[in-house]
Formats: sequence, C-alpha cells, structure tokens
Amino acid sequence: MAKTLHRLITALAVAVAAVGLMTVAPASADTSSDTGVSPYIVGGSRVSTSTYPWVVYLASSSGSQFCGGTLVRANKVVTAAHCVVGRTPSSTRVVHGRDDKQSTAGTVATVTSIWRHPSYTTATSGYDVAVLTLGTSISSTYLPLATPSDTALYAAGTSSRIYGWGTTSSGGSASRYLLGATVPLTSDSTCRTAYSQYSPTSMVCAGFPQGGVDTCQGDSGGPLVAGGKLIGATSWGRGCAGAGYPGVYARIASYYSVINAQL
Ligand code: ARG
Repeated sequence: MAKTLHRLITALAVAVAAVGLMTVAPASADTSSDTGVSPYIVGGSRVSTSTYPWVVYLASSSGSQFCGGTLVRANKVVTAAHCVVGRTPSSTRVVHGRDDKQSTAGTVATVTSIWRHPSYTTATSGYDVAVLTLGTSISSTYLPLATPSDTALYAAGTSSRIYGWGTTSSGGSASRYLLGATVPLTSDSTCRTAYSQYSPTSMVCAGFPQGGVDTCQGDSGGPLVAGGKLIGATSWGRGCAGAGYPGVYARIASYYSVINAQL
C-alpha cells in the first residue's frame, strides 16, 4: 500500500516537473515566432562566402570568431575600431572563405599590423573604423569603398545588405553559419530620433521602422553594402532589431581618405 502511494507521488512529482519545464522552455525558445521573423543575423538567411568572397571574420589565435570585416584589397581588411581595442596583430586572425565556423574551409590569414582611427574613443562617438594588414594576400576579389561622391548610396530608403556570423537575437547565441539580410537605410532624422549620439557625418543607420531585421553582437566590423560598394561597417545599436532602433554603421565615405591612405 505504502509502495503504491509512493509510486503515485513520484509519478505526480515527475508530471508537475515536466509541466513546469514545458511552460518555461517554449516561452524562452520561441521568440522567433513571437516576432514573426526567422532567427538569422536577426531576420536574415544563410548565404555563402563563395557569393560574397569579401566577407571575412576576425578570430582570436584560438580560432574563436569575435567580429566581421570586409576585404578591400587582397591583403587589407576594413573592420570596426571597437573590434580591435586591446588586440595585437599576433592575437588576431582573419578567416576567409569559411561559411561554417565549425569547418576548416577557406584560409586563415595572420595579421601584420592594425591601424585604428586615431580619433576613436567609443563606438557611439564615431570614428569606428580600422584597417588590418594581412600577412598574406588572400583573394583578388574585394569590395570597393564608397567615396565622398557616393552621396546617392546613402539616401534614405536605399536597399542595403548586411552580413555576419553574430547573434541571431539580442542576447542570443552566435550563428554557426554566415547569414545575410536586406535592410533599408533610414533618414538622418529617423536615426537622430532613436539615438541622441547619432552623427550624420560619421554614421549611417539601417533598419525597418518595425524592426525585425538587423545586425547584432558579433556582426560588428562587418559590411553594410549598397550599389556594389562598402558603405558602412557594423558599429552599434540599442539591443538588436527592435522597432524604432535601427542598427548604426560607421559611414565609410566619410573616412574614405584616411582608410585609403592605409591601403
Ligand atoms: N556592437 C556590436 C558588435 O560588436 C554590433 C551591434 C550592432 N547592433 C545593432 N543593433 N545593429 O558586434
């Protein structure tokens, strides 16, 4: 009798625990269906470095990815200044042609020097650009920089592309695969409304008014592309993909001369 009762209590306890788990797990795991977007970059999909061979990622010497970058010469990579704060060339690698971070595809290049914009302090103050020089030339397919005469590429509403291996939701985990998405550039006034730190000379914003598609943590330094040119480097934002809070990118055209001097 006591044994049967004990079994019943145990069974009840397991059932209660299971229900408890079930009520927690779907609520936290189901944010993608809550927002109605697929859980990639944020709101993007898988793409390949064979299509976009100038998209690279920065890794530590142990191989862990921490930022993105863009090949702008066979041996030069543009990234964000905040990505290379406290980094030495010897502790930094550039990985080219590897869609899947868990594969060994492509090339791992060493870095021989790191130039960080001399006026850089924090991402929200601008100047968030850096140039890495590689130990070897890795590809002859690279992306041209937007120049000061490319003002049309920065018009509000311009369709731009973002790429990276960063997190697929704010506070989420990083993507194993390269992801890409399309976002419209916002007007200066839209971005200024979102962020008091927005500077139209050093930054450009992109995102839908309703959010849902954005770069996120780990995408920093990676490309914002329009008209076949590098127009931005992923820099900062409040959370990721939230309505009214677009992603902020370093405005490459504003830094064309100083970057070009490093190439
Ligand atoms: N600072 C982030 C990084 O280091 C990038 C954040 C971009 N945020 C955004 N909402 N678009 O990877």
